[in-house]
Amino acid sequence: TFHFRALRRTALALLLITAALPASAREFRVAVGDGAGGTQEALGLAFTAALAEKTAGAHSAKLFLNGQLGDEQDTVTAAATGTLDFSILAINNITPFSPSVGTLTLPYVILSLEEAETITQGEIGQQMVDRTVEDAGVRIIGWAYSGFRVLTNSKHPVTTVADLQDLVIRVPKNEIMIETYKSWGINPTPMAWSETFAALQQKVVDGQDNPYMTVNAMKFDEVQKYVTNIRYIFSIEPLIVSEQLFQSLSPEEQAAVSEAGKVATAASAEFLRAKEAEIKTDLQARGMEISDPADGEAEFIERATTQVWPKFYDTIGGKEVLNGVLAALGRPAV
Ligand code: MLT
Repeated sequence: TFHFRALRRTALALLLITAALPASAREFRVAVGDGAGGTQEALGLAFTAALAEKTAGAHSAKLFLNGQLGDEQDTVTAAATGTLDFSILAINNITPFSPSVGTLTLPYVILSLEEAETITQGEIGQQMVDRTVEDAGVRIIGWAYSGFRVLTNSKHPVTTVADLQDLVIRVPKNEIMIETYKSWGINPTPMAWSETFAALQQKVVDGQDNPYMTVNAMKFDEVQKYVTNIRYIFSIEPLIVSEQLFQSLSPEEQAAVSEAGKVATAASAEFLRAKEAEIKTDLQARGMEISDPADGEAEFIERATTQVWPKFYDTIGGKEVLNGVLAALGRPAV
């Protein structure tokens, strides 16, 4: 009958497709810390499309959003031990495993998207990739750019360091960020990313910082009202691959993975340029109130750069590492 013939045709087609794939065809799993709509997802979608194209459909990759495959810091360990293939996560959640990338989370070092692109895609970025392979067992193959981490809270507008003093702020488990808030006079609460929404909702903490893109992707506007446009960290969110997996690939497959990472990096920058302003306006329309720090952020900058930078020269590999970054950005040495 007709149904039987259709079934046979489908079965035959499936058989032919399967036969055409190399024996090693795989669907890789990509952990994504954030929800849909942010730069992490944009980078991930561009990567999966480029990987399929560059391997002529032999390999594919699937995104698991919203920390489904574990908290961001845990995905680094999982990838290092080979139980996870890829992860997209904020750079500040790689720093604990590879201190050299800490240079990118030192406050007020990277001051624009263009500076983030210059550093991550240049010689310094390549050195960080190599160091991270050695230190953490994962290889950075792409970079999402998410904009400055702005401060949000549920209590009142913040424009000065004094305004911060009655707020309990969540930070990632990242020493540089903890010390930055200490330089601003408060003891922040280090907490895993996967627990942050609930903590804000239940008012265990009053606030947190993350880019507009992320605030939107995580629906933080539902639990936060006030935004302060601080610019202490320009958020960079790498795509990492398990080094164990990478080394098991053929040179052609490695090249395909690396090239797909580059395509995704470019797509992420484009996404940020196209979408950030619109997302900020949407968040305002949904009730968020946005303020700029007083006095051009002078007090925040002064305290963080003078008190925090010197504490981390050793961890980032020496003061000269920071000076290398500053020189590449055309700024004076410290
Ligand atoms: C964090 O605050 O832990 C991260 O920045 C979250 C993220 O990846 O967006």
